[in-house]
Amino acid sequence: MTLVIDNIGELVTGDPALGDGPLGVLHDASVVTDNDTVVAVGPAGAVADERLDAGGRCVLPGFVDSHTHLVFAGDRAEEFSRRMAGEPYDGGGIRVTTDATRNAGRAALRSALDERLAEVHRAGTTTVEIKTGYGLSVDSEAELASLAAEATPEATFLGAHLVPGEYQGRADDYVELVCGPMLDAVRGHVRWIDVFCETGAFDADQSRAVLTAGRDAGLGLRLHANQLGHGPGVQLGVEMGCASVDHCTYLSDDDIEALASSDTVATFLPATDFSTRQPYPDARRAIDAGVRVAIASNCNPGSSYTSSLSFCMALAVRDMGMTIDEAVAAVTTGGAAALRRSDVGRIVPGGPAHMTILDAPSRHHLAYRPGVPLIWRTLGADYRLQPAGDQT
Ligand code: NIG
Repeated sequence: MTLVIDNIGELVTGDPALGDGPLGVLHDASVVTDNDTVVAVGPAGAVADERLDAGGRCVLPGFVDSHTHLVFAGDRAEEFSRRMAGEPYDGGGIRVTTDATRNAGRAALRSALDERLAEVHRAGTTTVEIKTGYGLSVDSEAELASLAAEATPEATFLGAHLVPGEYQGRADDYVELVCGPMLDAVRGHVRWIDVFCETGAFDADQSRAVLTAGRDAGLGLRLHANQLGHGPGVQLGVEMGCASVDHCTYLSDDDIEALASSDTVATFLPATDFSTRQPYPDARRAIDAGVRVAIASNCNPGSSYTSSLSFCMALAVRDMGMTIDEAVAAVTTGGAAALRRSDVGRIVPGGPAHMTILDAPSRHHLAYRPGVPLIWRTLGADYRLQPAGDQT
């Protein structure tokens, strides 16, 4: 069954060969799909079995959210409220979510995950990475890994999120557990391994040990780095060939140089800096130096409880020196690059029919109208969607 999305006011293809500028923009356009695949991109008026009239709206590639922690129980609204009253964020609340998650049970975790995936879809995101990291024991991490893997092809093992209470003062023993029995228990489920390399979490040697074990197990590498201060994380991520180093709130000149001469993506998480009262990263400096960048939501109950990449784009444009087109690229082709994917983040013949239709005439409204629910339709996704969350 073919479908034409017709009367598109502005079409962002994400492929410069198909339209104007780096985003490949067309006006008065149409997209024809055959089941889940794009078969044609061109002028308005194409014919197919069914027609969806976009009414002059803007159509973009479905957003790619390359950093989330969607499998968890409970929330930390009180911690957020204390933070807004001046308490600093140090990541220690991860243990609070770990307690709630360990006690929740599989059915409750799965149902909460499904509700969040429906929210993610309503926000215009069609590809989502999901990390473990709130289990921090062999059994609990294995459960979270299998839940994440049931939901998305982009599941990540983050056993090295924080040293759990029962291993306090024995971080190296915990790292051995992560690199041995825990990795063995999750490796069949996940595509990626990740570590929180930060003062108070894991140091450079411990992080290197975890990434090395993951690489030896055949997993791709990602890293949380330079979130709360300067540190060795970005350099380590580049040295280890990570697909992405995430946060990058604090970047030295050497960090920027290392990133610019690598194919490691710097993934910014501006909703986290918003929600933890950290400074925003200087994305302008990184982009001007040639660093490949992405923007992701980091949706989690502690440091960034939002799934809205529109909100993240608005912050990046307002406070990180990014242009609107750079922000759009960062949540589409940038997010895809952070996941080492070339199939998503674009609307091209032969590619998946993953699209976001704005209730607005142009992409500029994403930053121009912050906080307004501009997503009119989200078409397709490569994660699990319950019927109630599927608007297609
Ligand atoms: O990316 N930094 C580490 N992990 C999450 C925070 C998780 C939490 O506070 O629960 C992050 O911000």
